[in-house]
Amino acid sequence: MSPVVTRTPEELRAALAGLDGTVGLVPTMGALHSGHASLVAKAAEENDHVVVSVFVNPLQFTDLGDCDDYRDYPHDVDKDVAFLSDKGVDVVFAPEAEAMYPQGVPEVWVRTGRMGEVLEGAWRPGHFDGVATVVTKLLSLVRPARVYFGQKDAQQLMIVRRMVSDLNLGPEVRAVPIVRAADGLAESSRNQHLSPEARSRALALPRALAAIADGTDLETARAELAAAEGVELDYLEIVDPATFTADPEGTLALGAIRVGGTRLIDNRLLG
Ligand code: PAF
Repeated sequence: MSPVVTRTPEELRAALAGLDGTVGLVPTMGALHSGHASLVAKAAEENDHVVVSVFVNPLQFTDLGDCDDYRDYPHDVDKDVAFLSDKGVDVVFAPEAEAMYPQGVPEVWVRTGRMGEVLEGAWRPGHFDGVATVVTKLLSLVRPARVYFGQKDAQQLMIVRRMVSDLNLGPEVRAVPIVRAADGLAESSRNQHLSPEARSRALALPRALAAIADGTDLETARAELAAAEGVELDYLEIVDPATFTADPEGTLALGAIRVGGTRLIDNRLLG
């Protein structure tokens, strides 16, 4: 079955009106891979219907989309729709920025506070406010029973959970484990920018997280990762996953590196 593709909120509402029963929403920015397939599979298992949004949200990029990271973000909706056929998806919502933000950059945003300012938020100021704002819009448009996020973006997942609870937005937030390729790299849309050499260098990050899980102390793992060839380390931390405060006794190790111009994040639950 091929999903119905909708491009505007009005088309989306018309498609949703024809669905009876629970809806699971999988928000994505496209460039779909096996990590997304696992979110879709979980949503199809737990709901009567599945909606996947494919939208490269300018608000969550530095300079609100006026940057190379936004322009270079892989974008091929036809390929994504083909990827989703026969995966139990009823509706794809793939708007252009003008359909999502007809008045341009919104005046009113969701503000994520301290949790959105640390770690990823410190490296990408405003990023989580952009995520929270678009996720709120998507929840308001789709009104799903459940919404699905990957554990790979652990800070995003925690912020969305907190936002849904703080603002009584309604859906159950479901987390789906990280999908790793055979070499151990966490699946990410950005992996397609990696040359074979950069990819093998990027494996230093999952290795550092595995070493921490095996008992290597944080300082040693951080020093080894910082010294890895071709790797620029942004951060490697152990945090309390409920607050994202650095905590040597915490149960989540997470890190971000840049390899050959591509920024990658990964994490691992400890214990
Ligand atoms: O994780 C992503 O792909 C994005 O941050 C999301 C949740 C789809 C919001 O644009």
